Amino acid sequence: MYTTLKEVLKEAESLHMAIGAFNTHNLEMLPAIIKAAVHQKTPVIIQTSCGTANYVGHKNLVAVCRSMAEEYGVNVVLHLDHAKDYDEIRKAIDAGYSSVMFDGSSLPLKENILGTKRVVDYARIHHVSVEAELGTVGGTEDGIAVSQEDACYTDPEDAVEFVKQTGIDALAVAIGTNHGQYKSKTNINFERLRELQKAVDIPLVIHGGTGVKEEDVKRVIDLGIRKFNVGTELLVGWNRKSRECYEEHRENISNRDNVVPCLDTITEIVERKIHLFKNMDGE
Ligand code: 13P
Repeated sequence: MYTTLKEVLKEAESLHMAIGAFNTHNLEMLPAIIKAAVHQKTPVIIQTSCGTANYVGHKNLVAVCRSMAEEYGVNVVLHLDHAKDYDEIRKAIDAGYSSVMFDGSSLPLKENILGTKRVVDYARIHHVSVEAELGTVGGTEDGIAVSQEDACYTDPEDAVEFVKQTGIDALAVAIGTNHGQYKSKTNINFERLRELQKAVDIPLVIHGGTGVKEEDVKRVIDLGIRKFNVGTELLVGWNRKSRECYEEHRENISNRDNVVPCLDTITEIVERKIHLFKNMDGE
């Protein structure tokens, strides 16, 4: 079924697991991600930046998610990731996205609340879920500066106020992860995550999933993470495989011979991640 973030995170809560949210960068990658979820028998969240949505076409992305959800009998959410602009969010909702993120994390608390509430008001009318962020998730690796300072972590008292005032469905928390970290791994502030889990009673979201150590996945899920974002690992996998294929093959070969191995790589990575996110003891 094509469904909302709220619905799949409810299921994740009752099964004590996290749902993988994977960033696709083109239309090609999308079926490979959904097929991994089909193999693993879990729901999946496909997320796009505003840039990808505008490049591929919002309605094209919605159409593929809807048709694959129906054909394969899998729960699929299409989510707009890190949107800062209200008009971009409206565009996605109007085209049929089932979930959006308003990222007002760089704004002062009151402005973040006001901006988020405005998005929630519009999303509710269309039965679309909303994720928002408080605190600052760090970044990037090849563009250097991968670090996280105490001052950027999500404050639990602010989180209580933010959730109460906005009525969001999921909260992205800053606990030491960084976007784009793929060579090194991050040190998570588990104590802060524990405080946040105690403070708010909605599903928590981890960003920068590529940089999270495999052995930390269970710990963060046990502390309330229900949506696990992974982007960079897919990009790196695709680009490495792609380089290998283009170097190896003649230039007049079918394009599929260069693309299908990349899709297989994506499916493998996503399956491995989803398996971890299922949080199965002793397996
Ligand atoms: P990575 O690209 O670091 O895995 O982060 C993905 C993400 O959090 C998207 O919002």
